[in-house]
Amino acid sequence: MNIVKNIYYVGVNDHITTLFEGQFDVPNGMAYNSYVIVDQKIAILDTVDAKFGNEWLENIKSVIGDREPDYLVVHHMEPDHSANIQLIINAFPNIQIVSSALAFDMMNNFYKLSPAKVVIKEGDILDLGEHKLQFISAPMVHWPEVMLSYETQEKVLFSADAFGKFGALDVDEDWDCEARRYYFGIVGKFGANVQLLLNKAKNLDIKTICPLHGPILNNNLEHYINQYNTWSSYTPESEGIVIAYTSVYGNTKKAVEELAKILTNKGCPKVVTTNLILDDNAEAVEDAFRYGKLILATTTYNADIFPKMKEFIDSLTERNYQKRKIGFIENGSWAPTAAKIMQEKFAKSVDITFSNVVVTIKSSLNDNSYTKLEKLAEDMLI
Ligand code: FEO
Repeated sequence: MNIVKNIYYVGVNDHITTLFEGQFDVPNGMAYNSYVIVDQKIAILDTVDAKFGNEWLENIKSVIGDREPDYLVVHHMEPDHSANIQLIINAFPNIQIVSSALAFDMMNNFYKLSPAKVVIKEGDILDLGEHKLQFISAPMVHWPEVMLSYETQEKVLFSADAFGKFGALDVDEDWDCEARRYYFGIVGKFGANVQLLLNKAKNLDIKTICPLHGPILNNNLEHYINQYNTWSSYTPESEGIVIAYTSVYGNTKKAVEELAKILTNKGCPKVVTTNLILDDNAEAVEDAFRYGKLILATTTYNADIFPKMKEFIDSLTERNYQKRKIGFIENGSWAPTAAKIMQEKFAKSVDITFSNVVVTIKSSLNDNSYTKLEKLAEDMLI
């Protein structure tokens, strides 16, 4: 597939993997993108997941014909992109690998590989003829060795994992939803690093973004860049309240359903409820970061809180959850302490406001706790 003059797509779609990186549901598959620039020199940009090496090699050969590639540029060493370095060296023994010094260390650690190398750093330029690749360092977007490159002739940004999404390219779906789930699941912790990258990108005239996952972006780039700016600055994107809960016998769930009704009746623009036992954790994390307010409801369990709630709060705090308001509902049949324990789990988080209304349920909702739900709703809507 030709993207712009002499730059081709040679990636693959994965409908085999069900859990990307061992944990993220990918109901519409995954794409591992790779590109070829054909000029006086030929550069291949990144490889693909191990399962698809031969398909990828065929894609490359269909673009370059009898010519031999001069370079393989490795922007990112995570194996979904680097697994076929040895395969391309076997196919084209004279190829030189272009990457950062740290990436070459990783190459040796992952694959015991010490190939013919061109070590590049921020600002270096790989001259292919008409096309020139200018390298941009992007540490922790999403690993420390990551480099991006900017092709100066056609103004293409090869953005590594940035601007990627879940989903194979042969499935049509909305970009924002699966890009947001991907961003907060995989890159969310590193907002400050993404902000640094966006500041560097401001100096570039970008016409096309070619990420390592998801579609090639070539119109309305402002939308995607604005979304990345919102997400990486931890700014709430949409107005509304997420209620994330666990329920063992249905009583906490009943309270959550009542609270959702109260919030809606009081004019909350959007109420999202998520059952942490049944629903996709990454989707719940995405929603928590999308909206500015969060209510957590769970039971006391082994003098702690229900395991799925623990896992969820950890998923938020390890991704630097911040700039949000949180309310709590606790349920306990003899010693309810879940609200206190949940709040303590945010002790290291910055810029979090807690509602001063805590709803305590003793086994099941009663008039007192229902009244407290109304007060919590009022406070969360302030
Ligand atoms: Fe798509 Fe961080 O690898």
